[in-house]
Amino acid sequence: MDAIRIRGGRPLRGRVRVSGAKNAALPILCTTLLSAGESLLRNVPNLRDINTLAALLRFLGRETEVGEGTVRVHAETEPVRPEAPYELVKQMRASVLVLGPLLARFGRVKVSLPGGCAIGARPIDQHLKGLEAMGAHIELDRGYVIAKGPDASGGRLHGADFCFDIITVTGTENLMMAAALAKGRTTLLNCAREPEVEELAHVLNKMGARIQGAGSSQIRIEGVDELEPFDHAIVADRIEAGTFMVAAAATAGDVLVEGAPMEHLEGFVSKLRAAGCGVAREGDGVRVTRVGPLRPVDVTTAPYPGFPTDMQAQFMVLMCLAEGKSVITETIFENRFMHVSELARMGADIEVRGNTAIVHGVPTLSGASVMATDLRASASLVIAGLVATSHETDILRVYHLDRGYEHIEQKLAGLGADVERVTGAPL
Ligand code: EPU
Repeated sequence: MDAIRIRGGRPLRGRVRVSGAKNAALPILCTTLLSAGESLLRNVPNLRDINTLAALLRFLGRETEVGEGTVRVHAETEPVRPEAPYELVKQMRASVLVLGPLLARFGRVKVSLPGGCAIGARPIDQHLKGLEAMGAHIELDRGYVIAKGPDASGGRLHGADFCFDIITVTGTENLMMAAALAKGRTTLLNCAREPEVEELAHVLNKMGARIQGAGSSQIRIEGVDELEPFDHAIVADRIEAGTFMVAAAATAGDVLVEGAPMEHLEGFVSKLRAAGCGVAREGDGVRVTRVGPLRPVDVTTAPYPGFPTDMQAQFMVLMCLAEGKSVITETIFENRFMHVSELARMGADIEVRGNTAIVHGVPTLSGASVMATDLRASASLVIAGLVATSHETDILRVYHLDRGYEHIEQKLAGLGADVERVTGAPL
């Protein structure tokens, strides 16, 4: 088992380039199923989640080649098997994004329910309700969703008006993909407005879909009979960018995060500035500097354009170092404070009350062996390790980081961090 070992206390300085966005690449890979031709994705990050989805596409019967920054999904040469087994879905919840495209195109699908995960129960009831509104017949059988189109033989979904009870990113994406090939018009209300939803709509429109309003809470989709394959370069990862921005701020450094999409980071940037950090656009990226002390700032996570839940853990590390008390409230997932007990082992002073963490700043953190059970919590521990002034930090269970951060140790080393990957660390 690998670990990331960090000897902290050095300010990060220099420039780092952001990779393509994981959470845009995953749904876009699933749209390849909406067309029989060969599609090419570029600027794809080299991540475990991308390999998991490529394995799922292969299982479904689509030859998929993962290259250096690219994924090529070859044209259909055999009938697609519209079935996503538990063994693959349990490795990554985003596998549920094949549900909409497979049902829309083949009129039937069997996909394992993803089950809960470390950060929360994460049901998919909204995905299923929306598909039912489009005429799908859905049964749950021994942990699988079995869905068929409106007619006995399967058949094509029809357009519908559907309002989400709760804002869901992958739910919005699944229904948008299904509606692209449905018969007639679909109007989706209370949609997720995340940039990744907009990016997916952009790719679907490149394929010949007729989608308007993505990026707002109301999306209108005029279904078409067929979609074309596509060639598309994935946008930069706003969460990876935000993670480097916090790392720069936490270590009192000066880092140009190249390619960081400032326009997608506003909710987070205003908090970073309020905490006393310098944040300025430079070239195609964002430069973050910090010279003075950190000020405490209260943060509440919210759907886009609010403060992203995927930045909550990292921002908490910054608040651990601020002079005074800050309150961090998590409203998206019910169990996303798993980094708290690990940060406490590094000297942080944090009290959790329900979905609120009250953070009392401390002068510094000290290194320890730590581990987390999800991706962003692991990223927060890396930042804590970069700050820690005494002892080295070993971040165990690195596979969580490898799901979402491409070459993280090389990128940090390029900014002057003393960081290495060690193999054979304990579990
Ligand atoms: N929810 C329901 N019913 C549903 C769907 C969602 O109750 O049918 C609830 C969830 O349990 C959660 C809330 O709605 O409490 C929001 O969940 P959402 O569906 O928006 O999350 P997701 O689509 O499963 C995506 C990202 C996550 C990110 C969230 C929130 C992908 C592949 N994943 O998940 O990314 O945290 O949106 O922004 O896009 C990560 O990258 O580390 C990550 C977890």
